[in-house]
Amino acid sequence: MNELVKVHDREFEILLSREEIAARIDSMGREISAYYQMRKPVLLSVMHGAVIFASDLVRAIDNPLEMDFVRLKSYSGMESTGEVLMTQKWEKSLENREVLILEDIIDSGTSMNFLIDKLREAGAADIKIASLLFKPHAFRYEYPIAWKGFEIGNEFVVGFGLDYDGLGRNLPAIYQLKIS
Ligand code: IMP
Ligand code: MG
Repeated sequence: MNELVKVHDREFEILLSREEIAARIDSMGREISAYYQMRKPVLLSVMHGAVIFASDLVRAIDNPLEMDFVRLKSYSGMESTGEVLMTQKWEKSLENREVLILEDIIDSGTSMNFLIDKLREAGAADIKIASLLFKPHAFRYEYPIAWKGFEIGNEFVVGFGLDYDGLGRNLPAIYQLKIS
């Protein structure tokens, strides 16, 4: 696996290998399966970033579940704009459903806060979050994150679904911006 990659004009260095990510997603799948035993949650993936995480995670969960998708937009380049838009809504009725949001990364937490409000308005019975990555030093809210894959520092990361201006999502590992 490459230790260094270039995305657009910037160099990134390896942070989490594909093996570490795969092992963690398997263990998250087991924890989530145990929690939702005998129930049928809707796993709501946030596009585009979370779809790679979601496709591995759902195959590590062995109880019945449904999948749906929502598209949120807040980042431009390496900066959060602070404003969140839902540019594509989910399809199912989520009224009285147990919803598990799948997210690639929770940074300031603003995007998830926005989505939680929307899901409450839609009448979801229970809302939980599973995020592959979490930046605890950037997080500005109080809501719980039931399943966190990895806690990382504030550095900008790419790979495994996460992009830098549209590129880098297909990298099989997670890389952080190289501070040189
Ligand atoms: P938040 O609203 O500040 O929590 O940011 C959440 C969204 O911003 C995530 O769903 C990502 O799409 C994007 N984002 C935040 N941090 C990073 C990063 O380090 N790399 C790539 N995208 C990020
Ligand atoms: Mg995202």
